[in-house]
Amino acid sequence: MKNDVPVKFFDISKRFGDTLAVDSADFSIHKGEFFGLLGPNGAGKTTLIKLLIGLANPTEGTAEVFGYDINEDYRQVHSYVGFAPAEANLDREFNIFDNLRFHAGYNGVSPREQLERAEQQLKKFDLWEKRNDKPYELSTGMRKKLLFARSMIIDPKIVILDEPTAGLDLETKEAVQNNIKKITEEGVTILFTTHQIDEAERLCDRVAIMNEGKVIEIGPPEELLESGQGDLVRITLAEEIDSLPGKLTRDGLRVELVSEKKEVRATVADGSEAAADIMRALHGAGIATKAVHVEKASLEDLFLQLTSKDDKTVSKENRVGGR
Ligand SMILES: Nc1ncnc2c1ncn2[C@@H]1O[C@H](COP(=O)(O)OP(=O)(O)OP(=O)(O)O)[C@@H](O)[C@H]1O
Ligand SMILES: [Mg+2]
Repeated sequence: MKNDVPVKFFDISKRFGDTLAVDSADFSIHKGEFFGLLGPNGAGKTTLIKLLIGLANPTEGTAEVFGYDINEDYRQVHSYVGFAPAEANLDREFNIFDNLRFHAGYNGVSPREQLERAEQQLKKFDLWEKRNDKPYELSTGMRKKLLFARSMIIDPKIVILDEPTAGLDLETKEAVQNNIKKITEEGVTILFTTHQIDEAERLCDRVAIMNEGKVIEIGPPEELLESGQGDLVRITLAEEIDSLPGKLTRDGLRVELVSEKKEVRATVADGSEAAADIMRALHGAGIATKAVHVEKASLEDLFLQLTSKDDKTVSKENRVGGR
């Protein structure tokens, strides 16, 4: 290793035609960290990961893994990084034991070790009974676990997991999350992507929120919440309105109209003060209100605030995680 920094992005960008999938990402991931990339569909999470492991070439900038450049020192980079893609790219000709064993083999693990590690990982992920099955004979959740098991087979220093818990039932999801936690306890660095804000909030040491290719916030979940604005104000309207009164959109407050345009929502530092201001503006514009709620903002509220579209409405499709 050239240094102690598992991942460092240097102003890295990736363009596909007109789409800037990753826009000047510039941050580091610390040793032993459980790091989450959080963002809506198409935010650029998978592309950022792919750049790191050579599955996509940067348009500009670069990245390093323990000081090794992703382009120049491709081999070293690969020797440190285990990767589980979001979608299965397993060899359907071989059973799952052989899938793991051969993967270890391609990555320079000795034949004896290959057998031991394949067995160890299959047992760890509760797939040993299925060892003679072909990948397509597994359920979606089992395949997810297998991809995770395979990423561990090279004894990596960094494990990159693209949506490791998407589509898993609650029990399997918890098992996978516990497996990830266990790995970090062994000093391995984790970079994982998720849409599930509660998951990021609960598991990650630090989170980077991505939207439209850009990293827009980065930090420990609790700090993001503090630096972001702390209270969520929800005001239910007596009837739906087409747009917010001009005063609300001008005041530098980030106020949105949601739920079929019958609720006004704002994430702010001081909820009671903002609630009074917003109520005054609504009533001033002749808009009747039914109820006011002030509650502590979650990471989801912050996320919605950061990634909401310019039309100031948040549709159900744009909501992430859900509650
Ligand atoms: N191979 C490709 N060719 C063209 N465009 C691509 C390619 N891969 C990704 N993109 C585009 O880059 C953008 C970012 O995609 P990416 O897959 O990185 O998003 P994501 O954050 O992983 O989304 P999701 O949560 O849906 O997995 C999208 O607009 C996507 O259409
Ligand atoms: Mg993705």
